[in-house]
Amino acid sequence: MADLKFPRKYVTSSGAVCDIIEGDSREELRQFRGQVDLIVTSPPYADARSRHYDSVHPDNFADWFMTFHEPFYDALKPTGSLVINIKDKVVDGVRHRYVWHMIERLSDKGWLCIDDYIWHKPNPMPGYWPTRLRDGWEYCFHLAKSTRPYFNADAVRKPVGDWVESRLKNLGNNGTVARPGRQEQRASGCFSG
Ligand SMILES: C[S@@+](CC[C@H](N)C(=O)[O-])C[C@H]1O[C@@H](n2cnc3c(N)ncnc32)[C@H](O)[C@@H]1O
Repeated sequence: MADLKFPRKYVTSSGAVCDIIEGDSREELRQFRGQVDLIVTSPPYADARSRHYDSVHPDNFADWFMTFHEPFYDALKPTGSLVINIKDKVVDGVRHRYVWHMIERLSDKGWLCIDDYIWHKPNPMPGYWPTRLRDGWEYCFHLAKSTRPYFNADAVRKPVGDWVESRLKNLGNNGTVARPGRQEQRASGCFSG
């Protein structure tokens, strides 16, 4: 690619050197068949910013997203993951479910829904709608090709809070619980299963 608008290399704060490729991911990913560990995407919102990228009507969004299915699926390793950050929009006063439709369609194609997370936005615009509250989150769907995708929880693990000590101390005081459950054991670090 001769006339890149962006630098070809980017060095992260941790020192990782990233190659930046500018192009349509459906095309560019073909050169990485079976080599990709993780795809994280925040796809275009439906019916928005038509000057910048495909602006798809919510009713057609799931169909449109399926044009990414094969390139994404083929690029990922068998242990790879796809994370989709998105939120469906309100159409005529009602929350359209095109995001759910998209996930259903991906499941039909063989993607496994490992989990749904949310991106919590602590500083969203104040709510001014007559029928709903402030909108402060978006979905982050974790999809994969197998039930055991590569997952390094240690990389994001945080020390457990002090609450575990008092919780463990109180367990059994009411005579019904003799020992900590699996969740408390895990949280206190004494459970490895
Ligand atoms: C909702 S924005 C996400 C912005 C991004 N999260 C950020 O913080 O810059 C959608 C992005 O997808 C890009 N995009 C749209 N269609 C694409 C395609 N076929 N291949 C690669 N990127 C695409 C758009 O250029 C845009 O930057």
